[in-house]
Amino acid sequence: MSVRIWEALCVAQNENCVLMDILDIATINSRKTSMNLTENRVFADYFNFLVSSGGQQLSRAISLWRSGVESEGDFWSRWFETKGLEWPEDYAIRIRPAPLAPWLAELLPKQHGSEVAKILDVGAGPITKAGTFLPDRPIEVVACDPLARVYDKIIERCGVKVPLRTVFSFAEDLSARFEESSFDLVCCTNALDHSIEPAWGILEMLIVVKKGGFVFLSHRRNEAEFENYAGLHQWNLDEADGDFIVWTKERTINISELTGGFADIQCSVSGDGLTTRIRKTNNIPIDSNSYHRKLRAALLNALIDDSGR
Ligand SMILES: C[S@@+](CC[C@H](N)C(=O)[O-])C[C@H]1O[C@@H](n2cnc3c(N)ncnc32)[C@H](O)[C@@H]1O
Repeated sequence: MSVRIWEALCVAQNENCVLMDILDIATINSRKTSMNLTENRVFADYFNFLVSSGGQQLSRAISLWRSGVESEGDFWSRWFETKGLEWPEDYAIRIRPAPLAPWLAELLPKQHGSEVAKILDVGAGPITKAGTFLPDRPIEVVACDPLARVYDKIIERCGVKVPLRTVFSFAEDLSARFEESSFDLVCCTNALDHSIEPAWGILEMLIVVKKGGFVFLSHRRNEAEFENYAGLHQWNLDEADGDFIVWTKERTINISELTGGFADIQCSVSGDGLTTRIRKTNNIPIDSNSYHRKLRAALLNALIDDSGR
């Protein structure tokens, strides 16, 4: 793309310049996609928030998150020591290899030959609840969690053998660790409401899942309100007029609007539970190099704000 067109675009959509840089319009054009993400204001505003204006809010979120880590580690320590606290059946199920949960298996694409279906469990805790095998087709499950190293220590101290070790990753940096469009299915249970910035985590899930694949989320509605914002419970997830929203007392992000143009979202509410199925309909046309550079800068910025507190 010529510099003049680039400049014209930047002038025309002044506040979107950062976004333009991230998305790399030239790449979008060369892929001949009809989607123009810059028309999605919510997406544009959200990226600008993350990489520029978001510094202080992000830093506050990181600070709150760090202060909740110890209680999460303590919870899982006691869970192992007591073989499941009030949930001994849960402990007994997780400690043995189990088949992939049927509600996840039904979201897998049709099998082609001997192809191995790849599933990512985000915020899996020390032992994934998703299951690790299917009797009738080959699958590979990867479980990740930012507290993976804490869990490794607990597991070793308790001398437990687990079916699958959890590896380190935040929901917010999945695409820095896993290939884009490399998973057939991504799932996340009871963890996004514990994260730093769930909207960012969902975008990352959409980057690493294949086009046509699903992101499956299962959470209690408005968990932070329920838990009175204790520990890592800082975010609420809910449905509003058919849209999927994440919110705190200060901010609400409409995920259905945020992902308009590259995902279809279906929410279903049952009692205080919220199940969300997100199908990736288009690749998010980001230039990953630029995207990671910008977000790294935003994170370091947030770190400085945090240390100056
Ligand atoms: C209540 S546990 C749920 C674990 C498991 N998914 C389950 O259903 O048992 C919440 C998990 O979310 C993880 N978590 C916290 N922040 C996260 C983030 N930014 N990205 C992904 N997971 C996160 C925590 O470390 C913790 O293991």
